[in-house]
Amino acid sequence: MGEQGMDGRMGFVSDHMPILRTIARRFSEERPFAGLTIAVRIHVEPKTGVLIRALVGGGARVVAMGNKGTTDDLLVVYLRNLGIEVFGSRADDDMTIASNLRRLVAERPDLVLDNGAEMIELLVGDQQSPLGATEETTSGAITLRGSLRGRVPFPVLVINDSPLKAIVENKHGVGQSVVESIRSATNLLLHRRRMVVFGYGWCGRGIAQYGRAAGADVVVIEPDSIKALEAVIDGYAVSTMEEEASRGDLFVTATGHAHVISVDDMERMKVNAVLANAGHFDNEIDVVGLRKVAVPSDRGTDITRYQFASGGSIDVIAEGRMVNLAVTGSRGNSIEIMDLGFSLQALCLERLAIDPARCSVGDQPVPADIDDWVARAMVAELR
Ligand SMILES: NC(=O)c1ccc[n+]([C@@H]2O[C@H](COP(=O)([O-])OP(=O)(O)OC[C@H]3O[C@@H](n4cnc5c(N)ncnc54)[C@H](O)[C@@H]3O)[C@@H](O)[C@H]2O)c1
Repeated sequence: MGEQGMDGRMGFVSDHMPILRTIARRFSEERPFAGLTIAVRIHVEPKTGVLIRALVGGGARVVAMGNKGTTDDLLVVYLRNLGIEVFGSRADDDMTIASNLRRLVAERPDLVLDNGAEMIELLVGDQQSPLGATEETTSGAITLRGSLRGRVPFPVLVINDSPLKAIVENKHGVGQSVVESIRSATNLLLHRRRMVVFGYGWCGRGIAQYGRAAGADVVVIEPDSIKALEAVIDGYAVSTMEEEASRGDLFVTATGHAHVISVDDMERMKVNAVLANAGHFDNEIDVVGLRKVAVPSDRGTDITRYQFASGGSIDVIAEGRMVNLAVTGSRGNSIEIMDLGFSLQALCLERLAIDPARCSVGDQPVPADIDDWVARAMVAELR
């Protein structure tokens, strides 16, 4: 697809985001972001392009950058042609990403749309706080409630905590797109394959459900006893890494935690075992550790084989990056699903812009009236 194709793709995507389009129309009349700079850190792909256009139409100056390995470079060109400042590209390494994050913060944003809480972290301790921020992900929420607890001097609306996002996006959106991306990268039949899903949170529930629908024998590994119970009662086998390392055919992580699959675990896996990660950061599978002990070789687009000295070998999809965005040709969650998530984003940013006093300092859920408005709009679209 060339630059012209991106124009058409943006039109197609926008046509299927009716809730965000309604919001964008109102923004262009009311201009809630007039005079404000919004720093946006999110996967840069056409659906986010529609969100960014809505914010710009509402009067904002937007400066944006993507996440590691998921940026759509053609969209970057498209957005730059619209006069929007976008830093970075799909090929950026960790150092370039860190430097781009500092550039974003140096723009002194009035509002921040973060994805992983890394920008919020840089802004803590700054003399001049933004009016507020939104945080998109589970991983960002973990940081806000962990190392940043009690330290953020401005409101952060955690989109991930919205029950709407958990049900619609994390469960159904991620479930569907992760299974689709694994199939597209491997071209393998999933029937009767032992698919080991790590984490029975929102994403894990969806991955298990869509994996089972695709014919896989799904096994869940989940340390939380109540969620493990839910997995069993939903009809999945619940097991441990100890047992599954040598039995699984396909391993998928969705936990928000580092090194869920260790190098020792990988050394015990069957030859040709396939590994993929759906969690936000590329450290759920310890690929850095793996590179120290196993020899990598290219197995075609998006698959790397790791050969151990002991004779074993495994295949890792997209080097452990978020599989539903990093695999070549993956488009992430369905358009309609992100219509919901980005409508929450747009309305939360508007709340922070025009009525920040209604929000308290620190992390907090999406205001109930915003959840209610977006839920009603989606029911009206889908019923
Ligand atoms: N790929 C995507 O498009 C996408 C979209 C949304 C969220 N995410 C990311 O997916 C990850 C999970 O999100 P979620 O909403 O499901 O979170 P969640 O908190 O609902 O679930 C995570 C689950 O993992 C379990 N867990 C923790 N450590 C584990 C371990 N060592 N082994 C097995 N299970 C373990 C937890 O007990 C919990 O049940 C996060 O990193 C999030 O940012 C990805």
